[in-house]
Amino acid sequence: MAKIEITKTELVWPGKYNEDGTLKEVPRVSLPFQVIETVNDSRATREAKKGGVQQTLFDVWEGKEGDTFEAGWRNKLIWGDNLLVMGSLLEKFAGKIDLIYIDPPFATGADFSFTAPIGEAGEEVHKEQSIIEEKAYRDTWGRGLESYLQMMYERLVLMRELLAEDGSIWVHLDDHVGHYVKVLLDEVFGGDTFINEIIWYYPDNFQGNVNRYADNHNLVLVYGKTPGVKLERVKIPLERPVRRDRRVWDKQSGKVVAARDEKGNIIYKTFTEKYADNVWTIGQSSVSKEHAAEFLGYPTQKPEELIRRVIVSASNEGDLVADFFCGSGTTLAVAEKLGRRWIGCDLGRWAIHVTRKRLLSIPNCKPFEVLNLGKYERQYWQGVTFGDKKDKSLTEQKLYEYLAFILKLYGAQPVAGMAHLHGKKGKAMVHIGAVDAPVTIAEIDAAVDECARQKQGELHVLGWEWEMGLYDLMVEAAKKKGVKLLLLQIPREVMEQQAAAKGDVRFFELAYLEAEIKQPKKLTAQVALKDFVIPNTELIPEDVRSKVKKWSDYIDYWAVDWDFRNDTFMQGWVAYRTRKERKLPLVSDPHTYEKPGKYRILVKVIDIFGNDTSQAFDVEVK
Ligand SMILES: C[S@@+](CC[C@H](N)C(=O)[O-])C[C@H]1O[C@@H](n2cnc3c(N)ncnc32)[C@H](O)[C@@H]1O
Repeated sequence: MAKIEITKTELVWPGKYNEDGTLKEVPRVSLPFQVIETVNDSRATREAKKGGVQQTLFDVWEGKEGDTFEAGWRNKLIWGDNLLVMGSLLEKFAGKIDLIYIDPPFATGADFSFTAPIGEAGEEVHKEQSIIEEKAYRDTWGRGLESYLQMMYERLVLMRELLAEDGSIWVHLDDHVGHYVKVLLDEVFGGDTFINEIIWYYPDNFQGNVNRYADNHNLVLVYGKTPGVKLERVKIPLERPVRRDRRVWDKQSGKVVAARDEKGNIIYKTFTEKYADNVWTIGQSSVSKEHAAEFLGYPTQKPEELIRRVIVSASNEGDLVADFFCGSGTTLAVAEKLGRRWIGCDLGRWAIHVTRKRLLSIPNCKPFEVLNLGKYERQYWQGVTFGDKKDKSLTEQKLYEYLAFILKLYGAQPVAGMAHLHGKKGKAMVHIGAVDAPVTIAEIDAAVDECARQKQGELHVLGWEWEMGLYDLMVEAAKKKGVKLLLLQIPREVMEQQAAAKGDVRFFELAYLEAEIKQPKKLTAQVALKDFVIPNTELIPEDVRSKVKKWSDYIDYWAVDWDFRNDTFMQGWVAYRTRKERKLPLVSDPHTYEKPGKYRILVKVIDIFGNDTSQAFDVEVK
């Protein structure tokens, strides 16, 4: 290994430098975002914003909106690994974010597991982390501290680029890693931009006899992007009012002195509050006790008061606040309440779902979008995994390798010489959808026809995304042609090398829902959910299955887009369970259309595992 030239004090860990002694480059991948859902926004407003242009299947986020809500800004909740997400945000947001607060996982696998209530009784079940979450945990801690530091280093470099010149970053840590990350922050941001170490002290954390002092604090390290960034200190109430002299700055003596009136008498004042110092005493029971107001059952949830202080100290109304490890969405919820714009990101499906519900329950929550890197992340993966190492393009040979890879994971063998059938598993033929387009009705039709011509009685179609709501339609149509059709989801985990190598990948049959569209009055429509079926119930853990009493217990949330145009799902009506309100209505409110016509209604169900299932219904409104 070449000699590393040490020119300053820095933290070094195995893997930080390349063999030739140069610093490892931070991966920068810029991919387009797909808008998968918009919340609290009307189609008319959105289309006006896009100049009336309607796109297909998924909207790509173009980033043309302005910096204010009036200029079309939409807050953003992004599902994905923050390394890819931040790389992709750089083009539009480099130097634009006023405040970043992050609370990265410290050292426990518990960050990804959670307890979730089920059904109306709200019985708790424990959900272990998914394979993808486990993978993130392994990436972070797989090689202990060295992989944690590499993970943090890469992300902090990108965060620095995203920060505005007068912006600040607040990094929430504990005593496992806090001191290492302090040195890392000094390196990335420069020691002269260090502002504060805030101690979050929570005296209400009960610990038994641990033969040492109880752990009742975390630390939050605060850095400016540039030296001299100022904070607006928050004031906190005094335990009891204090009467004392008012203090003023005396120019002549260059000291703080007691203020005096014209007659020279000291001016006294009763004080009820004071500026907070760098130890913030804020209880944690508000998020850890089951019946507390803020409790969401997300194990690493932080109190809103802590984040309120951060946001008030370092941003103004309308400023852009980001949290790239947003968990249950505390930063976003507080930013929303304080009139800041926000961007949040998390890798966990459940985190995104909890956050979406949390935001929805804030009165007058402004419109926001849920985005991911969807097909672009998959294309990137396909290019990197099967493409030419140099130009990453996908030749026919590489496409064949992609198909062979998926077939292998599914336990199927490739077959040659067919147009739409790619493999065979036992007696069933297998068709595999493309990474960058949803499986369409026409595509399934063609595969079913080929099966019928080949006198094959069973077809399994594996897809990443699906043309909305084709489930029952296709299964029925195939049956008429003598083909038993199964539609199976290709899970995200396929893209994770370790999971794939370990054979940890499971293909689930698509869940499906049944609903009735009623038209109670002229120009109205109303949706009644009739059934929700998760086909492979044997794959659901027994403790969950035993607590499910009826089909609707599997549903945590459902929403309706009354005028779906085969693009982004626009939530028009929504119902969901909360910790307090476990009842879920199964009939929507009626929706009134402005004019008669043919409409496509899309119903979206999110189940207790955080997976979503959609079904489209075409109606004629008179
Ligand atoms: C400590 S929790 C944050 C809790 C949050 N402050 C709250 O109040 O709920 C850390 C979060 O980081 C997420 N996470 C871990 N690695 C990630 C990554 N590479 N990209 C995005 N999110 C990640 C986890 O899913 C988890 O929700």
